[in-house]
Amino acid sequence: MPATSTRSRQKMVPDGRAVQRSLRGRTPILTIARLVLPGFYSMRSHFCGTVTEDLVGEGVTLCGWVHRRRDHGGVIFIDLRDRSGLVQVVYDPDAVEAFAAAEQVRSEYVLRVEGRVRERPAGTLNPEMPTGAIEVLGKSLEILNPARTPPFQLDEDDVGEETRLRYRYVDLRRPEMFDRITTRARITRAIREFLDGDGFIDIETPMLTRATPEGARDYLVPSRTHPGHFFALPQSPQLFKQLLMMSGFERYYQIVRCFRDEDLRADRQPEFTQLDVETSFLDIDGITGRMEALMRHVFDRVLGVALPDPFPRMTWDEAMERFGTDRPDLRNPLELVEVGDLVADTEFKVFSGPANDPGGRVAALRAPGAGGMARSAIDAYTRHVATYAAKGLAYIKVNDRAAGRDGLQSPIVKFLSDDALHGIMERTAARDGDLVFFGADSSKIVNDALGALRVKLGEDLGLVEDGWRILWVLGFPMFEWDPRERRYSALHHPFTSPDTNDAAAIESNPAALRSRAYDMVLNGSEIGGGSVRIHRRELQQAVFQVLGIGEEEARERFGFFLDALEYGCPPHGGIAFGLDRIAMLMTGSSSIRDVIAFPKTQTANDPLTGAPAPAAPRQLRELGIRLRGQGATLA
Ligand code: AMO
Ligand code: AMP
Repeated sequence: MPATSTRSRQKMVPDGRAVQRSLRGRTPILTIARLVLPGFYSMRSHFCGTVTEDLVGEGVTLCGWVHRRRDHGGVIFIDLRDRSGLVQVVYDPDAVEAFAAAEQVRSEYVLRVEGRVRERPAGTLNPEMPTGAIEVLGKSLEILNPARTPPFQLDEDDVGEETRLRYRYVDLRRPEMFDRITTRARITRAIREFLDGDGFIDIETPMLTRATPEGARDYLVPSRTHPGHFFALPQSPQLFKQLLMMSGFERYYQIVRCFRDEDLRADRQPEFTQLDVETSFLDIDGITGRMEALMRHVFDRVLGVALPDPFPRMTWDEAMERFGTDRPDLRNPLELVEVGDLVADTEFKVFSGPANDPGGRVAALRAPGAGGMARSAIDAYTRHVATYAAKGLAYIKVNDRAAGRDGLQSPIVKFLSDDALHGIMERTAARDGDLVFFGADSSKIVNDALGALRVKLGEDLGLVEDGWRILWVLGFPMFEWDPRERRYSALHHPFTSPDTNDAAAIESNPAALRSRAYDMVLNGSEIGGGSVRIHRRELQQAVFQVLGIGEEEARERFGFFLDALEYGCPPHGGIAFGLDRIAMLMTGSSSIRDVIAFPKTQTANDPLTGAPAPAAPRQLRELGIRLRGQGATLA
C-alpha cells in the first residue's frame, strides 16, 4: 500500500462512521468471487452488490432478502439485499405472474429473482450505491420463504439492546453489523498469518479445568462422575501455556475463549476471546518486539494503517503521574500536573494535608479556554469526580494572569500565597481564559478522579485528536496492598516475574517491588497484558508467600504446576490480547458486544436462547445437586 493512501486512511479512522466507510466494499468481494466460481452449484448467478454497469443487457439470477418494497402506482420496486449489498429490482405489470408475486412480498421475505440488467433512467441514479447506476427488470420472482414482520427495521437507529439480542439473527443482517463481524474475521486471519509465519504453533488447551487466578470469579461446571467436584472454566489458559513452554514448544499461540464472572462493562463480557501467546528464551524486548510487529501487520492488513516502529514506552509511574491511569489515551492532550510541593505550607488543610502525606497527592488539571464555564457545569464535574470518591473539586478561573491574584477567580485563592499561585500558573502553563481544576487526597483517589475528569473534559472540550495512539506501559508495581482484606494481591497475576531474582528481597519489601509485566494500550484501552514469568520454584514460592498463599494451599491449588517448574523449565514469558477489544476499536464500535455475534447482556444473560436457564430435575439428580429455594445444595 503506498504511503499516501496509508496516511489518508489513518486520518479517517477514529470516527466510527469513517471506519465503517473505509471498510465497506473492501470486505466481501474476494470471498464472493470464490463462492461463484464456475463449476460450483449455486441458486444465483451473481451477488446483489456486484451487479454493476458492466452487466447491462445481461440476464441475472439473484437471491436475497427484501430490504424495502415500494409500490409506485403500477410499478413495484424491491431493494434486494444479500451480504454483498443491495440492488434495485423493478417489476412492471407486463410480467403478469411476477408482478402479482411482487405484490405479495414484504420486508425480509427471502426471494429468488430472475431479470435483465438495465441502466436506470436519467435522474434516478443513486451515486451512493455501488449498484446505483443500474436496476434489474424482473422477469420472475420466487418466494423461497415468507417472513413475519421483523421486530425492527434494519435501518432503525434506537432499537433497545434486549430486542436486538433477542432477534440477533435479524440484527446481524444490518450492513454495519456484517462489516464488524467480517472485519473481526479479517483481524484473526491477519493474526494467524503473522504468527504462523513467525514460528508460533497453534495449540488448544482444556476448557474443563481447574481455577486460574486472574482475579475474577470462576464459572463452575459440576462433575457427574465425581459428585461434589467441579471443573472451572478457564479465566485464561495461563498455566497451560506455561506448561507448554516447559514442554519445549517455544512459541505457542491460541485464539481462545476465556470465562470470567465479573461486573460487566462496555468492554467486558463474561466470555470473551483472547489471543494468547507464550514464548521461551526471549526477554522483555524480544517479546514486545514480536508483538509490536504482529500489531503492525494486523493494522496494515485490515485498515491500511501504519502503526509506529517501535511503539512508544512509558513507565507505570509516569503514566500515573501525567494521566492518573495506567492506560492513558494519548489522543487527549490534557495532563495532570503535580503541585503538592507548591501548596505544602498553605493553611488550606484540604491541600496541605495530602501534600505532606507520603501516600497523598495534590494535582492540577488545566482546561484550556474553559474559563467561562458556568457554575452549574463545574458542579456537574464535581459530581462526576465524586463517583471516584473525590471530596470536592477546587478550581481557579484564570481571567488575567498579568494581574496576579486579582486576575484569578476562585473560592480557594484566598488560602494560597502569591508564590504558590505563581508556581501553579507557571507549572500548568495556564493562559488567560483557562480553568484549572485541583484534586487533593490519597494518590489513588486523585489519580482516579482527575484521570476520569481528564477523559471527560477532553471529550467535552473537543480536544481528543484523530488517529491511533498505541504504547507500552511497563514497570508496574509487583503487588498491590488491599486495605480491606489487609493483604497483598498481584497486580498482574502470581506467575509474573518480579524485577529481581532474589527470593529474600521479595519477602523483605514487597511494596517496593516492580514486576516484569507490560501492557499494550491503544487509544485509552488496555488491549493486551503480559509478563516475563517466574521460572524458578523458590521465586514462585516467595511470591505465593507474599500473597498469603501458604505451602499447603499452594500445593493443593498449583501442585502440578510447581512440580513442573522443577522438571526443566526454560525462562519464558508471554501476553494475552483482548481480541474483542481490538475488534471494537478497529471497527469504531462503542461496545465489544457489537463485535461478538452472540454476546451476553450487561447482566450476563442471553435473550436469544434464554441462557442461563433452570436445569431439568433429572440432570440435577444425576449431578447430585438438590435445589432448595433459589439455591442449590449437593445431595
Ligand atoms: P489479562 O487478565 O490482562 O491477562 O487479560 C488479557 C486481556 O484480555 C482482555 N480482557 C477482557 N476482554 C473482554 N472481557 C473481559 N472480561 C476481559 N478481561 C480481560 C483485555 C486484557 O488486556 N493470563 C494473562 C495474560 C498473560 O499474562 O499472558 C491474562 O489473562 O484486553
Ligand atoms: P470547602 O472549603 O470545603 O468549601 O472547599 C473549597 C473548595 O475546595 C471547593 O471548591 C471544593 O470543591 C474544593 N475541595 C474540597 N475538597 C477537595 C479535595 N479533596 N480535592 C480538591 N478540591 C476539594
